[in-house]
Amino acid sequence: MGSISFKGRDIISINDLTREETDYILSMGDQIENLSAKGSANLCGKILVTLFFEPSTRTKLSFDTAMYKLGGQVVGFAEPKASSVEKGETLSDTIKVVENYGDVIVLRHPLEGAARLAAEVASVPVINAGSGSEEHPTQALLDLYTMKKEEGKIDGLNLALVGDLRYGRTVHSLAYALSMYDVNLKLISPDQLRMRREVLDHISKRISVQEGNSLNDLLPDLDVVYITRIQKERFPDLADYEKIKGSYKITPETLKGVKDNLIIMHPLPRVDEVDPAIDSTPYAIYFKQVKYGLLIRMALLSMVLGTI
Ligand code: NCD
Repeated sequence: MGSISFKGRDIISINDLTREETDYILSMGDQIENLSAKGSANLCGKILVTLFFEPSTRTKLSFDTAMYKLGGQVVGFAEPKASSVEKGETLSDTIKVVENYGDVIVLRHPLEGAARLAAEVASVPVINAGSGSEEHPTQALLDLYTMKKEEGKIDGLNLALVGDLRYGRTVHSLAYALSMYDVNLKLISPDQLRMRREVLDHISKRISVQEGNSLNDLLPDLDVVYITRIQKERFPDLADYEKIKGSYKITPETLKGVKDNLIIMHPLPRVDEVDPAIDSTPYAIYFKQVKYGLLIRMALLSMVLGTI
């Protein structure tokens, strides 16, 4: 692993990473834990530019906090209406402007391919914080890190990705990421929201994958349930959303007979997929994911800026 360097690299798709590089990033999460507790000046003088063309709570605040904890500063917008985008500026022009201010750019954009385009235009590293329904690679890295910390391993896990596998970008990146490991993966969704064909084709060449509609019968065998929100805003026809909303709901009832080591993960925000009564059980890991996410983003910023 000694030769791995991320200095100056973009983080656009999980498929740009090898397993060795992915494991390296996860190992850096552990190294950075110390700095998170004490704070550090490692990125003093560095500026992160955050360009959020779509709503965000966790991802934006997580990158902001990561930068501040490392002694860096953040500029940017979370509301494109407050920027020149409202006046018709193109994404590539916006990138060519802000690369003069910052040392690294974090971009969330509704269009697939936007992050890749930004990375091609920018002379500083670009980190994809969500590109339409396509990918959300830093979420997948923090999801892997959560599994490693909570289950002690990734290889050998029995997992289910549940909910909106068509429009949910977190599950696309996570499926790609898991396919680098030796896992057994179930994909549970309504028929209309099955995993995107290109993702399914890619991962089924590498790991054992089964698709289905029903979660409850599978639950007793699972180590990890990763449940997602139905992505209402990405449905071309809201009538279709109305038909399938509320398809899955984890309640204390559904958890009878599960393994002791089961963890329930969710990228958040949740709508109604996980009953808040689950929050106080040892299975609920979704708020801990947020903490792990901060560590992984501190590690990524440090790595692309060349300080670790
Ligand atoms: C997700 C996203 O934006 O894709 N949120 C996140 O970053 N944790 C999930 C979602 O919106 O459902």
